[in-house]
This record gives sequence, C-alpha cells and structure tokens, in this order.
Amino acid sequence: MSLDIRFAIASDLHIGLPHTIWDHPSRFHLIEVSIPALEQVLDHISQLDIDFLLLPGDLTQHGERDNHAWLAERLQRLSFPCYVIPGNHDVVLPDPAGDARRIGSNDFAKIYQKFGYDKVVQDQDQATAPRPLCYSTSPVSGLRLIGLNSNQFDHEGKLVGYLDSAQLDWLETELSRGQFEATWVMIHHNVLEHLPDQAQHPLGRRYILGNAERLKAILKTHAVSLIFTGHLHVQDVTQENGLTEITTGSLVSYPHPYRLLHYKQSPAETMLSFESFRIGSTPDWPQLQQQSRDWMGDRATPFMAKLLSLASLDLSEAQIAQLTPHLRYFWADIAEGDREFNFEQFPAELQGYFKRFGIHQGKIDNAATLAL
Ligand SMILES: [Fe+2]
Ligand SMILES: [Fe+2]
Repeated sequence: MSLDIRFAIASDLHIGLPHTIWDHPSRFHLIEVSIPALEQVLDHISQLDIDFLLLPGDLTQHGERDNHAWLAERLQRLSFPCYVIPGNHDVVLPDPAGDARRIGSNDFAKIYQKFGYDKVVQDQDQATAPRPLCYSTSPVSGLRLIGLNSNQFDHEGKLVGYLDSAQLDWLETELSRGQFEATWVMIHHNVLEHLPDQAQHPLGRRYILGNAERLKAILKTHAVSLIFTGHLHVQDVTQENGLTEITTGSLVSYPHPYRLLHYKQSPAETMLSFESFRIGSTPDWPQLQQQSRDWMGDRATPFMAKLLSLASLDLSEAQIAQLTPHLRYFWADIAEGDREFNFEQFPAELQGYFKRFGIHQGKIDNAATLAL
C-alpha cells in the first residue's frame, strides 16, 4: 500500500486574547500577533487540499482557560482535521484548583477532545486512575499518529521535559500492535539536537526531552522514523540514525513561520517534501518581519552575554561586553534556519564556536525533499 499525504504544521501559537496578554517589558514572545497570525495560516491552508493540520504544543500564552477555549472553538470551524498536543505553556499548574483562570491536565483532554483526545476522554470518564495524556489516532488510512505529553511536574512541582513511565509503557504497547504503513510521533520537546551539544548546553538542554535516549531506542525498535516537535521556536530539521525530526518555529516569534508538507511512501521509497512560509504583516504590525527581528534583538543582550560566558574560552567581562552587540541578531538568524555564521571580527576560536550553529546537514531547515 502507498501513502500520499499533504499536511501543515504551525507551532507554538501561544494564543493570547487581548485581556490576557502579560504587560511586561522583557516579554520575549509577540503574543499580540498570535490570533491574526493564526488566522492568516488558517486562511492560507484552507484554500489548499490538505489532509490535516498539526499543532505541536504551546497552544496558549500560559495555560489560560479563556485562550484554550478560544482556540478550541476556532479549530472546531476548520474544514479539515487538526491534531494538538500540550506544550509547557498549556497546563502550567499541577493542581489548578486555586486558580480558576488556568486549566488542569484533565481539562486539556476535554477541551481538545476532537483534536486527538477522544479516546483519552472516554478512558478518563471510565477509569478511576488518571490516564496519561497521550493518544494514537489514524488521520489517514495506513498512517498512525501518536501524540505524546512531554510536560511533567517534578517532585517540587516544577515543569520538566520528560516522558513518564506510564507513557513509555503505553507507547511500547501501542507500537507493538496494529498494522500501519507508517507511524509518526508528535511531541513538544526536542528529541534530537538542533543546536551544537544542545543536550549538554546550559541554555539549550531545557528544550530537549530529559529521557530522549529512551524514546529514541523505542522508536528505533519499532521502525518509527519521523518526529514533529516545537518548543525551541526555531526552524530546524535534524536527521540522526534513521530518525528525522522537524521542529517548527513559533507563530509569535521571528520569523513567524509555518510549514506545508507532502509525504509520499511507496514500496520503493519514502520521500518527505516541505516548504515554509512566514507571516509578513498583521494590521497592527505592518512590517512584522523587521519589527519582530528588532523586538528579539532588543531583548538579546543578557542571553548573548550568557552564551559568550559559556563558550568555554575564559573571556573577560570587558571582552564579553565588547562582543555582545555583534550578536544582536544571532538568535533571530538561528530561528530562521538555513543560516551560516562567520563572525570575522571575533577571535579565531570564537569564530569556530559560532560557525557550528550554522548549516550542518545542508540547507534543509525550511524547504527540502528528504529520503526517509
Ligand atoms: Fe513556545
Ligand atoms: Fe515550549
């Protein structure tokens, strides 16, 4: 049997209705554009003949009930199926009893019942023990889509990127059964590295799943080769040992991207083609690309100074202060994907350090045709 599937991905929507938007000068995300940006994406893809839309988490600004309700209502009106998963900004309290403005994990499945969680809600209603927030569904005959929840509260109640044992057990059982031509996995946290040494880097590791190695081993055993993630707010594609991970940037941060993809599988080969689009402007942000790039640049200094201090080169504070302004747009360029970095004004060792953040597997972050 062959598969021929066209679909779209938009990630990290961080939906914020005007009355919910945090008013904070150092806020990194341009929540103001979340709703007009999503409307443009939906306008565009509604004109195409797609099989479904994937939304890999961080659906709302910060778990607000009003924002979840708005999004679920908007998704109900789509003419094609849509599948969501939670990100670390979607269920932000272990027990939301004391904060009526935010939802809890049982609420998440109910709100998004039609977007992947039908079976989870049925099980929740019948079972006495909590059901892990993960699902398996078949959007197209022959394809199995698995949605995982990588957001766990540790013993201190802090959110970490991790898959609990209940989900890993469920996943192994699920992958052992059923006859599907292909299985894809959608999970908010990165599984493969999208930045140099990301799993070890003090600034990058919180974007990687804590037990990524365990998940990779399970996927390998069951010949799963395709993963869709978000969370990093960067356009990047990584291939490693037969796994391909497509992480999609955020609709509320530069460069405000989304993707269209075409998956073709025949007995002879499996090919994945994709292209990327950007939100160019919204009514209130007529030069969104430049305004958003500057918004990010205006907030970059503390992060770039920290990155320089971690570059293991024993730079003095004076050197860091002198080099940091050159990195004003570094993160914006990373977020675009497919960039090369040559900081010729930097000392040689530092040039090498930053070069590694550039293109590493060819220009495959935004548009490519990959053999899987
Ligand atoms: Fe996000
Ligand atoms: Fe996130």
